[in-house]
Amino acid sequence: MCGIVGYVGPRAALDVLVPGLEGLEYRGYDSAGVALIGAGGLTVTKTAGRMADLVAALDAEPITGSVGIGHTRWATHGAPTTGNAHPHRDCDGTVAVIHNGIVENWAALRAKLIANGHEFASDTDTEVIAHLVEDRADMDLADAVRDVMKLADGSLAIAVVRTDEPKRIVAARRGSPLVIGRGDGENFLASDIPAFLRHTKKVIAVDDDRVVDLTAESIVITDLDGNETPISEREIEWDLEAAEKGGYPTFMLKEINEQPTAITDTLRGRIDGTGRIEFSELELDNKIIRMIDKVFVIACGTSYHAAMMAKYAIERWTRLPVEIDIASEFRYRDPVLDDRSLVIGISQSGETIDTLAAIRYAKAQGATVVGLSNVVDSALARDADAVLYTRCGPEIGVAATKTFTTQLVMLQLFGLYLAQNRGTLDPGTIGNLVAAIKELPQTVERALQLEDQIRGMTGEWADTRDFFFLGRAGDFPVAMEGALKLKEIAYVRAEGYPAGEMKHGPISLIEKGVVVIGIATDSHVRAKTLSNMEEMKARGGTIVMVVEEGDEDEVASVADHVIAVPNSPDLICIVNAVVPLQFLAYHIANAKGLDVDKPRNLAKTVTVE
Ligand code: AGP
Ligand code: GLU
Repeated sequence: MCGIVGYVGPRAALDVLVPGLEGLEYRGYDSAGVALIGAGGLTVTKTAGRMADLVAALDAEPITGSVGIGHTRWATHGAPTTGNAHPHRDCDGTVAVIHNGIVENWAALRAKLIANGHEFASDTDTEVIAHLVEDRADMDLADAVRDVMKLADGSLAIAVVRTDEPKRIVAARRGSPLVIGRGDGENFLASDIPAFLRHTKKVIAVDDDRVVDLTAESIVITDLDGNETPISEREIEWDLEAAEKGGYPTFMLKEINEQPTAITDTLRGRIDGTGRIEFSELELDNKIIRMIDKVFVIACGTSYHAAMMAKYAIERWTRLPVEIDIASEFRYRDPVLDDRSLVIGISQSGETIDTLAAIRYAKAQGATVVGLSNVVDSALARDADAVLYTRCGPEIGVAATKTFTTQLVMLQLFGLYLAQNRGTLDPGTIGNLVAAIKELPQTVERALQLEDQIRGMTGEWADTRDFFFLGRAGDFPVAMEGALKLKEIAYVRAEGYPAGEMKHGPISLIEKGVVVIGIATDSHVRAKTLSNMEEMKARGGTIVMVVEEGDEDEVASVADHVIAVPNSPDLICIVNAVVPLQFLAYHIANAKGLDVDKPRNLAKTVTVE
């Protein structure tokens, strides 16, 4: 995820690009850059870091031009350095390209281009586009871009300028967002509306596999064969602040709703046409994968709940023993590790000091460390022997939502990857589970439709002081996460507990007025969880059941409220089950008028022990 912006018209393009990129910085802030076409040809200025760094560079060395493109990056391929910042150029500096997304077949394209004599200046997947356009120098720019779109797989929102067409930007879209703003004698493009909302409210959404030809006076949209397609324009009514949150009142709500796309992006390129799981970035020798005899999963907070799920998945699918630890506890219990141990460190930020200290300790004991992070080149990524990225774009709300569900998805895939490469599960079973994982963007999309039901339910709980979230097996981490969300943003005492353990003590807290939420999607233990929920009802608790669609009747007699999530196989389904609990915490906090994006006493990244 990153922000792109483009301008063509009579103004100094920088006056549009710089504020535009500032409005998109929430989409990524690893680096920023602009390319302008002016009297002196094509000039590019780019810097690692935030927009403020780019502005300082532009102040130090001003550039001019009235056609320009700009980018704020959230790195997926290549470290967040100045060299990898967009725009990227071709060999002779006549083409500049910005890109949001991933060119999945970049490695093959790059190898071919290098064999044909092209020289690359960055480690990004994006740069191949600049060289592919360069190879089509004799073609009309829009024809060249159409041709390149047919060659490049993956998600792309791109914008291209070329010095021989100094009054034109050609953009294209597949998967990643792209909107056009129509001005009066000037036109705009961007990943998101806030980038140009101060200049125009006339917006054109671009469909997939479309190429947009933009000059100051005209907007022409074609399909990949060059046939012109109809343009539908609408007038936006939001103000700028609402637009930055995509029209949502908070980043958290926006991020909850982004989960289907986030999961799609995380899965991209990781399952090949035959259903085989491939992690091209995972530089881990297959020998190590076959040699390991024990797995440790270490994390904090929400990421620890993902670790809990990983234990069930890896043990069930690979029969390897798995230990999980809260990172701040790990080092101090003197764990037994050696060179046959695989340690998975999970941290969305990749900067949580407890998790970093734990994996450094594990490495010192000879273990192989795989990091799972959402931030490219984070400290975790650099310290680990190998790294896997969830690719869900920056998460601004302090409460983890889309980073959690994508962690679950990655750990499910990684568990199946180990099973595939160690031969512990038959290919048919792996194939069925992989197929279910590929369905998750759709099932999560349907789970999002539960919001109205949850909002209606939570109205009566604004003053409720005690919540329990109960589950067994794969549903237990969901219970823990549901409770953590409620604690951190709604400031309500909430306990996540194994459903079967309540009778050993905490059941004495259940009385009228306590809300008990039971999660029962795991078929191995559903009947037992239901019995435990009967025990809570008998003590006066208000019972909410989260079950799969089709199981509503089975729980009707015990539950005061039933939340039915879409069906998926055991363990996979918990990704669907998390969504209503995110809404539950959100709407209770919201009803209390709390700042859900910045809850008190918390920080998004915890860099102290
Ligand atoms: C989650 O909502 C919390 N903000 C917190 O528990 C968080 O998951 C924890 O601090 C770990 O963060 P990390 O994934 O960046 O390491
Ligand atoms: N894949 C490109 C890069 O890493 C674009 C990243 C993005 O869309 O955030 O530079």
